[in-house]
Amino acid sequence: LSPAKPSLTALKTMPAPVCRCRPLAMAVLLLIASLCHLGSCNGGAGGGRITRLPGQPEVNFGQYSGYVEVDGKGSRALFYYFVEAELDPATKPLVLWLNGGPGCSSLGVGAFSENGPFRPSGQALVRNEYSWNKEANVIYLETPAGVGFSYSADAAYYQGVNDNMTAMDNMVFMQRWLEKFPQYKGRELYISGESYAGHYIPQLAEVMVEFNKKDNIFNLKGLALGNPVLHFTTDFNSRAEYFWSHGLISDSTYRIFTSVCNYSRYVSEYYGGSLSPLCARVMNQVTRETSRFVDKYDVTLDVCLSSVLSQSMILSPHVCS
Ligand SMILES: *[C@@H]1O[C@H](CO)[C@@H](O)[C@H](O)[C@H]1NC(C)=O
Ligand SMILES: *[C@@H]1O[C@H](CO)[C@@H](O)[C@H](O)[C@H]1NC(C)=O
Repeated sequence: LSPAKPSLTALKTMPAPVCRCRPLAMAVLLLIASLCHLGSCNGGAGGGRITRLPGQPEVNFGQYSGYVEVDGKGSRALFYYFVEAELDPATKPLVLWLNGGPGCSSLGVGAFSENGPFRPSGQALVRNEYSWNKEANVIYLETPAGVGFSYSADAAYYQGVNDNMTAMDNMVFMQRWLEKFPQYKGRELYISGESYAGHYIPQLAEVMVEFNKKDNIFNLKGLALGNPVLHFTTDFNSRAEYFWSHGLISDSTYRIFTSVCNYSRYVSEYYGGSLSPLCARVMNQVTRETSRFVDKYDVTLDVCLSSVLSQSMILSPHVCS
C-alpha cells in the first residue's frame, strides 16, 4: 500500500462524497439514452413523455425525461427524469432529488438504485416497493452540467464550475421546468438529496428564497439532506470512537487515530490531493484492523450473506471492477 495512493480498501471506507455507482444502473442509463434517441421521449403534455422503459412492468403513473436549457444560449442543458406520483399526482407535493459526488448521476444512482419506482433485475426492471413516488412527484436532476446526460457545449465549463454556478443553474432549471409542466406551478416543493448534495440543497434553497423576493414562484416547503457532506471537520470526527467502541480497532490504533491523524484531517488531505505519509500510515493501520470484510457503512452486517456492494466486490471482484 503506497502512502501516496490510498488502497482500494481505503477508498471504500471513504464516507459520503464517494458515489456508489452500480454497473446495472449504468446499463439502464444507456437504455434510456437509446430510447430517447429513437424518439420515444417526444410528445405528450409538458414534453418528454416516456411511453415505456425497456423491460418495464405495466404502471399507471406518468414518466418524463428531457433537457432544460439553463444558459439562455442553448449551449448548456440539464437532464431530468420525472416520475409522477402513483396515485393522485395533482394533490401530491413536488420533490427534487439530487445525488452528490460531485459527479454522481441522479438517474443511475437515485432513480434506479435508491428511491425511484424501478430497479434493474437482469434484463428487466422490477418495481421498488419503497419508491418515493408513492408519496410524491419526483424530479431526478443530473447536475451540474457534465454529470450524467447533462452537458455544456463549452467544455471549459466543466473545469470552472463551482457550487455557486451549480446552485444558479439548478434554480434556472426549476424555473424553466415549471414552464414545461405548468400544472406544478405553486405546488409544495421539497429539495432532497444525499452526500455532496449537502452543499447543493441549501445553496439552491438560498437562491430560490432570494429569487422569490422578486418573483414568488417557488413554494419551497422543506429540505431533506441524507448522509450529507457539510464540512469535513464536523462531519468526520466520530469514526475513531465509533470503530474503537465497536471493538474494530485496538486501543493503540484508537490513540494514533485521534492524535497523530484523525479522520477529518485524513479526508481533507485526501480530497485536497495531498495525502501525507503520516495520515496514510495511520489509515493503513486502521484499515488493516477493520479488515476488508467489515462494511464500514454497517459494521454488524453478516459478512457471508450480505449483498452490500463493498462485500460483493470482495466476493466477486470481476462484477464491480
Ligand atoms: C459564492 O457565493 C457566495 C455568496 O454570494 C460568495 O460569498 C462566494 O464568494 C461565492 N463563491 C464563489 C467561488 O464564487
Ligand atoms: C483533527 O485534527 C485536526 C488537525 O490535526 C485538528 O485541528 C482537529 O481539532 C482534530 N479534530 C478532532 C475532533 O480531534
